[in-house]
Amino acid sequence: MKKTVEKVDYDISGLRAVETFPIVDGLRFPLVGQTALITSVNKEKIPSLGVKSSISIFSSRPAVVGFGCNTSHLTAKNILSTGEFIINVPGTELAKKIWKITEIEPTGEKEIKKAGLTPVKSAKLSTPRIAECKAHLECSLDWTKKYGEEMVIFGRVLLASVDKKVVEADVLERYKHLKLFAQLDNGLYGVIKEAKKLSS
Ligand SMILES: Cc1cc2nc3c(=O)[nH]c(=O)nc-3n(C[C@H](O)[C@H](O)[C@H](O)COP(=O)(O)O)c2cc1C
Repeated sequence: MKKTVEKVDYDISGLRAVETFPIVDGLRFPLVGQTALITSVNKEKIPSLGVKSSISIFSSRPAVVGFGCNTSHLTAKNILSTGEFIINVPGTELAKKIWKITEIEPTGEKEIKKAGLTPVKSAKLSTPRIAECKAHLECSLDWTKKYGEEMVIFGRVLLASVDKKVVEADVLERYKHLKLFAQLDNGLYGVIKEAKKLSS
């Protein structure tokens, strides 16, 4: 008979929201979210930069992406008022800068520059991209769903832009350049350093 692995179960259904996802007893739930930089603008076209890890792809045809955001964040407010945002995909070399962004006052372009990053024009939107990121998904707001103080924001990808180096690289080499990373427990992140092919 197969040996069973000992588990610790967390029944979070009866807990108050603040005690539940994503942290119970200091342990982040074992679903990781890639770390991304969301840029958005307000009606006056003043940009804002937000770090988000509760993020993923939800449909390929059409291309739909979504992320969780606190409703008090400028990112959520901007997207609701202008209907657009960009998911900028950073490599791990930006990790230190990214954790510091949350300490910077949201002051438009200055916020981006204070973070040591460069805003550059996007192809389809008024929202700027972040030059130092490896890829950018220019999105239009599709729908939102509120859960108390948080909301899920879904967008349709209008245009995807990826570093030429990535596009031209052998498929297994791409991830060495991208160095994608995900938020783990508090202050920890994990890096995708290697792509492996399933042996046929
Ligand atoms: C690695 C990391 C991941 C984060 N992920 C999220 C997230 O998924 N959703 C969220 O609302 N806040 C997240 N935060 C917190 C926000 O980035 C932070 O509160 C920020 O000040 C919000 O900026 P904004 O108002 O421009 O959106 C994360 C912070 C860090 C450092």
